[in-house]
Amino acid sequence: MLDNSYSTRTHVNAQLDADVVGQKVTLAGWVGRRRDHGGLIFIDLRDRSGIAQLVFDPQHAAASGVEAFHAAETVRPEWVITVTGLVRPRPDSAVNPHLPTGAIEILVETLTVLNRANTPPFEIADGIETDEALRLRWRYLDIRRPEMTKILELRSAVTAAVRTALSARGFLEIETPILTKATPEGARDFIVPARLAPGKFYALPQSPQLFKQLTMVAGLERYYQIARCFRDEDLRADRQPEFTQIDIELSFATADDIMRLTEDLMHAVMALVGTALPDPLPRISWHDAMNRYGSDRPDTRFGLTLVDLSEYVQHSDFKVFASVVAQGGVVKAVNAKGAGDWARSKFDSLNQLALDLGAKGLAWIAFPSDGGVKSPIAKFFSEEEMAAIRQAAGVEAGDTIFFCAGDLDLSNEVLGAVRLRLAEELGIERRGFDALWVTDFPLFVRDKETGRWTANHHPFTRPFDEDLSLLESEPGSVGSYSYDLVLNGYEVGGGTLRIHDADLQLRILEILGHDKQAAEEQFGFLLEALRFGAPPHGGIALGLDRLIMILAGRDSIRDVIAFPKTSSGADLMTAAPAPVTDRALKDLGIKPDV
Ligand code: AMO
Ligand code: AMP
Repeated sequence: MLDNSYSTRTHVNAQLDADVVGQKVTLAGWVGRRRDHGGLIFIDLRDRSGIAQLVFDPQHAAASGVEAFHAAETVRPEWVITVTGLVRPRPDSAVNPHLPTGAIEILVETLTVLNRANTPPFEIADGIETDEALRLRWRYLDIRRPEMTKILELRSAVTAAVRTALSARGFLEIETPILTKATPEGARDFIVPARLAPGKFYALPQSPQLFKQLTMVAGLERYYQIARCFRDEDLRADRQPEFTQIDIELSFATADDIMRLTEDLMHAVMALVGTALPDPLPRISWHDAMNRYGSDRPDTRFGLTLVDLSEYVQHSDFKVFASVVAQGGVVKAVNAKGAGDWARSKFDSLNQLALDLGAKGLAWIAFPSDGGVKSPIAKFFSEEEMAAIRQAAGVEAGDTIFFCAGDLDLSNEVLGAVRLRLAEELGIERRGFDALWVTDFPLFVRDKETGRWTANHHPFTRPFDEDLSLLESEPGSVGSYSYDLVLNGYEVGGGTLRIHDADLQLRILEILGHDKQAAEEQFGFLLEALRFGAPPHGGIALGLDRLIMILAGRDSIRDVIAFPKTSSGADLMTAAPAPVTDRALKDLGIKPDV
């Protein structure tokens, strides 16, 4: 906590309570609100710890108080001042129960202006409705707002707690290079031209993945780093081009050990916001998560789970459904409780969402609360089929079933998105913290565009021992020792056991389309290291920004990063990225674009 040590003040505002009444104090900070009440002036003095009320009363104070009063008349918002004065109780009628220092005030005797300030472009206060671009342009003023300061305090407390917890468990904090070689985490690299090696480039790390594995080969056994990662990808509210991971790696541990360690960390972190999570955290396999929630990061604070209705509709007269099932697809559905009386336009907008995600449609059957059935497709089903659908989906009057027919993965994905939209439209309350593990991801996924196999996490993930024989023949059905931590529907962390055997690593790289020579060229240093006594190892990385965003109840990670970038990757305060001189380009061996 901020205190008065190492400073010119005797107290910070948060230290002013009933115990200091009658004492003379010296404070310093920024001028907040000022109110002139005839012969009296009140100023809210703000420092990082909070607000204190200053009173300027020329009648009451010593002779110098008159000067302070006149000085107080001239100060403007955000000027920096220091004051000396007497702490006194406020009159009963002026006590502010909403302010920690609301029972006292400081009768000022001297005021010194330490610095003036231009008129701020927005009010330095909580809850302002200001364009985010303006806040980012003047970020240091934005951070001066108490709600922003508090988030950065929380962030700092979390990293401190993590360091304490990991250090107590024998983890070493190790720094790894920022100027390095590309690590494949699935995004584009930021590259840096190397002046001393014209035509060659460093890549900024997408994560310290390979270096942390090498610390295991180095025999350090337990590594961690609060690591900055760089990924050149399309930005969203939960993605920044540079972000921070709590990055962890350990040797001789099972997936279970790593999940338990992460849970211990999470308990320490949640204690900082006065919340407890279940211990241990629930786990769900990737397969079940996809089938039930249509997502590998399910928000399980509400139901609306997906059901498979294929067997009840496969022989129906609705040709779309019957033919999808006949061709090996599925008809899955979600029962939206409380959507039975919705207007048609709402169904249409959900249908559009499904189409946008690549579905062929989103059929629906509504069961209005006053009885009956409303639907363009109900006529295709026999009474028995309707009864079976109703029973399987748990339908009551007042519900609507939404159907998606097609390939299993696509249907799950589409209904997963529909489920989230329904929760919004139905106004389902999602409070508190909901954490769970999603485990056992497939090792590979097919790239939608190229049709080639790509690594689901990264190419260093260890396949299930029992699936090794399927690697080449059935890559799609190989599972992996992998676990993602999901909090309130966000992926806040992900990790895996690693391959510690060079031959297996080469095999995986080959399946991913690197021939032996390309693999040795790109990952030779890793393959080599694996041949020098690499211990079995694994780890995890938690997305610090996302974690803090959720703990702080915000919906953008920009709010929890001191100096973030906009969705187009710009820093509005420094105006980065910016052009460089032709000379600088020439030094790097890059031709200026003329
Ligand atoms: P992964 O790529 O899953 O794993 O990243 C780990 C966590 O980092 C967070 N994250 C991001 N946060 C903000 N902006 C981004 N652009 C961004 N990208 C990812 C997420 C994610 O869960 N090396 C592996 C970890 C390991 O295997 O140990 C890795 O980086 O919360
Ligand atoms: P149609 O017979 O093509 O007019 O479709 C009737 C209804 O079925 C419409 O509401 C479509 O959105 C829906 N629909 C069409 N194809 C699918 C599908 N593959 N899955 C779910 N609904 C579908």
